[in-house]
Amino acid sequence: MLLGSGELGKEFVIAAQRLGQTIIAVDSYSSAPAMQVADAFEVINMLDGDALDAIVAKHQPEIIVPEIEAIRTTRFYDYEKNGIQVVPSAKAANFTMNRKAIRDLAAKDLGLPTAKYTYAASLEAMYAAVEEVGMPCVVKPLMSSSGKGQSVIKTKEDIAKAWEIAGSKGRGDDGEVIVEAFVKFTSEITLLTVTQSNGITLFCPSIGHVQERGDYQQSWQPALISEKNVLQAQEMAAKVTKALSGAGIWGVEFFICEEGVIFSELSPRPHDTGMVTLAGTQNFNEFELHCRALLGLPIPVITLERAGASAVVLALKDGENITYEGLEKAAAYDKSDLRIFGKPSAREYRRMGVTLAYDKVGSDINQLTAKAIKMANDIKVIVK
Ligand SMILES: Nc1ncnc2c1ncn2[C@@H]1O[C@H](COP(=O)(O)OP(=O)(O)O)[C@@H](O)[C@H]1O
Ligand SMILES: [Mg+2]
Repeated sequence: MLLGSGELGKEFVIAAQRLGQTIIAVDSYSSAPAMQVADAFEVINMLDGDALDAIVAKHQPEIIVPEIEAIRTTRFYDYEKNGIQVVPSAKAANFTMNRKAIRDLAAKDLGLPTAKYTYAASLEAMYAAVEEVGMPCVVKPLMSSSGKGQSVIKTKEDIAKAWEIAGSKGRGDDGEVIVEAFVKFTSEITLLTVTQSNGITLFCPSIGHVQERGDYQQSWQPALISEKNVLQAQEMAAKVTKALSGAGIWGVEFFICEEGVIFSELSPRPHDTGMVTLAGTQNFNEFELHCRALLGLPIPVITLERAGASAVVLALKDGENITYEGLEKAAAYDKSDLRIFGKPSAREYRRMGVTLAYDKVGSDINQLTAKAIKMANDIKVIVK
């Protein structure tokens, strides 16, 4: 049972079916990308624990694979007790849904370097928090993803606005926020990490990416960072995934700074920036790795097979009846590929597809990224 049916879920379903699995795809709206390729589907509000219990009872899945954060993950502990495998584990899904749980685990329990941070549960507390952390700083709802409800405070005048933005866009039940010092990073990476039930923890070649509005715009693999930084990130990723436990792929996010590597956050599932692996950059893409790991199939080694880059295709406005123009143009580039996710509706900045460019290992990553961006710009999302 796949909880969340976006583009990452769709690729996961395809990978899982190639290994003979039967998948029930779940999301809050019908015709979601993963539902289009799954064996069956359910439309529910996944934050509603009773609705979740009902479909689990109905289908009795052997494995539950969360694809997003916004799920009533507290129920996962019961499913696990009842013998259902939750991927990678109930604890991992539950902790990573809440920025406070994961940040305190990383910084306090495991001693990983992070941005200086504190929490605030009221506007008054925000003033104290900003004082403590310093400006500029980033404010995020404890429960949110894809940059929703986030803003940067540069002056005292920004504080009230940041509190308001966090309150209106977060999906938390409590309204608490994290206030983090702004990290002046030179680059950011995702380290895809694979934990196995009967094997060692493996690392994919690191992925570089650029974010705008809290959403990824381009990613490339391998990232252009030093071997020393890679090893620092691997050591931290091994620690935090071990503490959260379970088998599967994880997207562990880091900031690369002049002083070294800083842990940012992680998700216990395939990562959007990891769509670059659809360009054949690795012997197994991130979805195939997730699938092997959760099925307990050995992954003998992960190898870099190509250099690659991805760029997102975004909708420019809200609407339904989506069509696409420019696919002929985008598809005409050599050593490239693309995905159109088939989302039934668009909104401004919604990710509708991704373009992929690749070449042999050692090729110019900046050129590949520029090519992926050009392809993405060739594609127009038409909303009627
Ligand atoms: N403390 C910070 N300093 C600088 N940039 C940040 C900071 N926190 C987040 N960002 C930027 O915002 C992006 C999204 O933040 P993140 O914490 O990963 O939230 P989400 O869970 O929504 O992905 C990051 O990838 C980074 O580009
Ligand atoms: Mg992130």
